[in-house]
Amino acid sequence: MNFIYMDHAATSWPKPPAVAEAVGAALAGTGNPGRSGHPLALAAARAVLAAREGVAGLLGVTDPERIVFGRNATEAINLALWGLLRPGDRVVTTQAEHNAVMRPLRELERQGVSLLQVPCAPDGTPDLDALRRLLEGARLLVSTHASNVLGTLMPLAEMGRLARAAGACFLVDGAQTAGAVPVQLATLPVDLFAFTGHKSLLGPQGTGGLYIRPGLDLAPLLRGGTGSASELEEMPEFAPDRYEAGTPNVPGLAGLAASAAYLAQATVAGVRAHELALVERFLAGLREIPGIVLYGPDTADRRCGLVSLNLAGASASALGEALEQGYGILTRVGLHCAPAAHRLAGTWPDGAVRFSFGYSTTAADVDAALQALAELARTLEA
Ligand code: ALA
Repeated sequence: MNFIYMDHAATSWPKPPAVAEAVGAALAGTGNPGRSGHPLALAAARAVLAAREGVAGLLGVTDPERIVFGRNATEAINLALWGLLRPGDRVVTTQAEHNAVMRPLRELERQGVSLLQVPCAPDGTPDLDALRRLLEGARLLVSTHASNVLGTLMPLAEMGRLARAAGACFLVDGAQTAGAVPVQLATLPVDLFAFTGHKSLLGPQGTGGLYIRPGLDLAPLLRGGTGSASELEEMPEFAPDRYEAGTPNVPGLAGLAASAAYLAQATVAGVRAHELALVERFLAGLREIPGIVLYGPDTADRRCGLVSLNLAGASASALGEALEQGYGILTRVGLHCAPAAHRLAGTWPDGAVRFSFGYSTTAADVDAALQALAELARTLEA
């Protein structure tokens, strides 16, 4: 059966064809970047530099050396948290976070960091007055840019201003937004921004990284060879080498460079406009279907490109299975590694069905999903 892919929040699919071509070319034609001056090493270094410059351009970062690469957003978040926080520090986060944030924070709490959570409305919107109070004396504010369950776009500029006023750093988990929601990190009050390469940046899995504001120094998460300052048995002081120990994922980063070039043409603003129109169309259609229970903000402009829902009288797992088996519609069902957001929405522990759109989703795909849901609303029983 042909299928309709509506799981872009888990990973984008299909990637632009240039991505696989670039991965293959890198496997066939690169050595180890920064370790030698021979042509294969130089080709690898060029691929990594192209990825760094490409991602910096898409995120509005002026100095590409402040983009440090790693395996994924989770590793980037761990680098930021373990690199910055010490026992006795206070960290504030929201009630809508993914476990990529909550699990390291819970471990840091066990080790003496004090953790506070700003209350959020059931649609994920944070209470900014409460945030102002909680930030007093805090070292760090951590927030998702957009909830991977509710879709809620967080007011980054306001949150960042509150963090700055309190003298706290601001770490943003951009896993759901990098490449899909425009940001200008050079001018936003954001100190650290974690991204993944394989979602809306359209690159391969196993790529991601962290933007680190100029002037901010973190302790590295890993220590090892960098190909630079090899006379030292300490990590170099300068970015990105300080944070990139060991041989990097050159084929993955070559793929990411290709997807970044694709997105530079399509523009992040163009992708945002496309996804916004799809979410608007989907929300409007869902409101006509009896029994649909929607989570997250009412309007598309306050969401990234995803919508989670349930159907009264059916479990999330039954609905997800019926969509896949009967209609070839691929969604993500369950708790989405984010139990806190499901508690907010009132969908813990049974979860919800998440539809997430991307650059390749069409209005016809959305209409097919609406038609399937309308039929299942009539036929599916718990
Ligand atoms: N965090 C990813 C998701 O929400 C994997 O599906």
